Amino acid sequence: MAEDLTIVKGNKTEQYETLIPQIKALLDGEPDLIANLANTVAALKEQFSWLWVGFYLVKNDELVLAPFQGPVACTRIRKGRGVCGASWAQAKTLIVTDVEKFPGHIACSSLSKSEIVVPVMRNNEVIAVLDVDSESYSTFDETDQRYLEQIIELISFN
Ligand code: SME
Repeated sequence: MAEDLTIVKGNKTEQYETLIPQIKALLDGEPDLIANLANTVAALKEQFSWLWVGFYLVKNDELVLAPFQGPVACTRIRKGRGVCGASWAQAKTLIVTDVEKFPGHIACSSLSKSEIVVPVMRNNEVIAVLDVDSESYSTFDETDQRYLEQIIELISFN
């Protein structure tokens, strides 16, 4: 596909519905995981202009920073620590409307106000998380959860 992304304005659903086929096209035929994670976060960042969007991969007993877009971030997160580690431990998507109210939240950037973390499940195990941070409160809701969960299913983590 052409490497230019078509960016739309409109409501969240319209934005995701336009973006998802483009992410599919970017991933199509490309087996390299890092390349695919990199383009997925770049596409999300370009469409939504969130503060930070990126992946952490489960390696041994930690989450390790993987392709992302945004300010520099903490490299390693232990299971149960912060929103990412909690999402890993609970194996479920966590939506945090105000990060200050989340016990143990890891503030990689003081600009972050709200966050969503989506675990990537394969064979009933969490193998990665997708983390998104916003500079505004209450940015993320069930619509983001639904579409971000769809997007991570497009990626082959083999
Ligand atoms: N806030 C996350 C840490 C990762 S950064 O936001 C990129 C957390 O509490 O797990």
